[in-house]
Amino acid sequence: MKSETETLTLSLVSAVRNYLDSIHHGHRVHLNAFFADWPEAGYATRDIPPHPLPVLSWLAEAVKATGTDIASVANMLAVAANHLAWGQTYSSDDIGAAFLERYGWTELIGQRGPVASKRIACGFLLLGPDIEYPPHRHEAEEIYVPLTGGTLWMRGGEGWVRRSPSSPIYHPAWTPHAMRTAATPLLALYLWRGGDLVQKSRIDWYTTAEIFPQL
Ligand SMILES: [Fe+2]
Repeated sequence: MKSETETLTLSLVSAVRNYLDSIHHGHRVHLNAFFADWPEAGYATRDIPPHPLPVLSWLAEAVKATGTDIASVANMLAVAANHLAWGQTYSSDDIGAAFLERYGWTELIGQRGPVASKRIACGFLLLGPDIEYPPHRHEAEEIYVPLTGGTLWMRGGEGWVRRSPSSPIYHPAWTPHAMRTAATPLLALYLWRGGDLVQKSRIDWYTTAEIFPQL
């Protein structure tokens, strides 16, 4: 018999896939390569001990801020959240303790998540309000799908852009990217493929010369 955690996780994974299918058309960013690497149907889950993080205190507000087309996925995440392992890529030495209070992700599919895959990673990123996830980069190519609005996103040298919920954002391998939340927390789906799926992203801290090139 399936455990409650397995039932919740499998429902969430299939809701995520249905949602991704539903937004696939009408965007310039194509999910085909990620779908091709999606685990075969009929997968089981691995037991991953639940691990909460302080950022979960923003989950209810984030779920409330999602649009109606996302509500079923977001509500399912809210129900499953305490059964999932939430992680952080960085230590406080890397990024500061204040950031870690408002940052975390949970992997659903991948080398660490409950559904095993060596070809893709997929999960949720949650950021609390009023923080900046500094520019960082990694080998895997990535698609983010914001589920809440109000966050500024930066990709490469393109500057800050407010991205809409359900509009996928593509980051080619090693492209620096960053996010800045305002009053609304950020809930987003992420997908990785084509690289080291457990790589620690490299943070590209701003230097004074980059911010004030005239100095
Ligand atoms: Fe990324």
